[in-house]
Amino acid sequence: MDYSKFLSERSKLRQPSATRALAPFLHQKDLISLGVGQPNPDTFPYASMSVTLKTGETLNIDEQLFSRALSYDNTQGLPHLNEWLCQLQKIEHNPPVDFTLSIGTGSQDLLTKTFEMLLNEGDPILIESPSYTGCLSFLKTLNCNFVDVMTDAYGIIPEQLEKILEAWPESDPSGRQNQPKPRCLYTIPSGGNPTGATSTIERKRAIYDICHKHDIIIIEDDAYYYLQFTVERVPSYLSMDVDGRVVRCDSMSKILSSGLRLGWVTGPKPLIERINLHTMGTNLQPSGIPQVMAYQLLAHWGHEGFFHHVKNVAAFYRQKRDDFVECLDRHMKGRATWAVPSAGMFFWVRLLGGINDSEDLIMNKALKQKVLGLPGVKFMPHESKTEYIRLSYSNVSKENMDEALRRLALVIDQEAEVNGLKIEDLGRSDQ
Ligand SMILES: Cc1ncc(COP(=O)(O)O)c(C=O)c1O
Repeated sequence: MDYSKFLSERSKLRQPSATRALAPFLHQKDLISLGVGQPNPDTFPYASMSVTLKTGETLNIDEQLFSRALSYDNTQGLPHLNEWLCQLQKIEHNPPVDFTLSIGTGSQDLLTKTFEMLLNEGDPILIESPSYTGCLSFLKTLNCNFVDVMTDAYGIIPEQLEKILEAWPESDPSGRQNQPKPRCLYTIPSGGNPTGATSTIERKRAIYDICHKHDIIIIEDDAYYYLQFTVERVPSYLSMDVDGRVVRCDSMSKILSSGLRLGWVTGPKPLIERINLHTMGTNLQPSGIPQVMAYQLLAHWGHEGFFHHVKNVAAFYRQKRDDFVECLDRHMKGRATWAVPSAGMFFWVRLLGGINDSEDLIMNKALKQKVLGLPGVKFMPHESKTEYIRLSYSNVSKENMDEALRRLALVIDQEAEVNGLKIEDLGRSDQ
């Protein structure tokens, strides 16, 4: 594929930093480096590091790795961890075409660099509506044109995507009325934030085919991929990427620790190298200490151990999801509707009771009752009012879930009354 047509003007301007470009040579044993101003590690006060796991095991961080982690290192991350993750991608996704991988400061770091690489000011981007507020707020700084694609309980509706692209105005040869056609799609295919929706394999295939037909890059933000509650995980876009049009972002945040700030991006070399150029010019590299902490554990577990761990994490959240469903059924029937997520941490709840705008209810009335949710408007690309709210069950005891939903039910009842409705009149309609 020719990637130049996908690159933003800013990305095209990026050049390697002279010192960063030398980083790969720094660990070549027979080379005497006078070229790079590496601080001398003898002056660093740290001597060693060990980490105790919840199992009681102690991981002593390898001396050489630790010393390496204290210094500047490769832009695309510690090679040991990078290689381990490449193996993981091969085992889990088996991408049909060659790929490269880079580690970043959380997947957010890599997502924002991907957007910046692909979008000029004012460019259109195909985006799920609703979508992740963390990326929406970054995309707004690029002033891009959100082209909303409708979603349901299974994420993007392929027919909607196709309709938008088929109806896109032909480019005007005079150039006066040109509306550039979208060059990328941003999607959260598993346990979507905020919807909790997970795409099916059939939908993903249909969406991939549409993107192939219209030559669109798929930005696959799969932070909740390993939090799928089904026995088999739905295959990723990366696993079906025969063209090299998928840039996939993974995250350690939901499976090892969010404070490690580690994520990784996988995709075609020409695009990942552009992301590396961005890193060279901004934060230089992902932080060394979190990388060795993660690597030492992953190497200790091996890939099998990692899969065992993520299975346990998914089972943990599945139980939380089940507890939340029980509490929703107890308190919210007739007051709201919802779809039960098969991955992730969120319920996307539609309030009944004549509520058209959930923001006032959540930010004022619910807060007074000491219960917190997120108003749906925060996730709408065009900030349109909505009766939806996002509720997360990830870090709440069953007792608190029950109490929170009891309080929320009270607030909805009061609002319904103001709207001249009685809750028993509302009935429950499934989404
Ligand atoms: C959909 C989605 N993508 C990306 C991120 C960012 O994750 P990270 O901690 O890896 O930067 C989040 C965080 O909540 C998220 O929900």
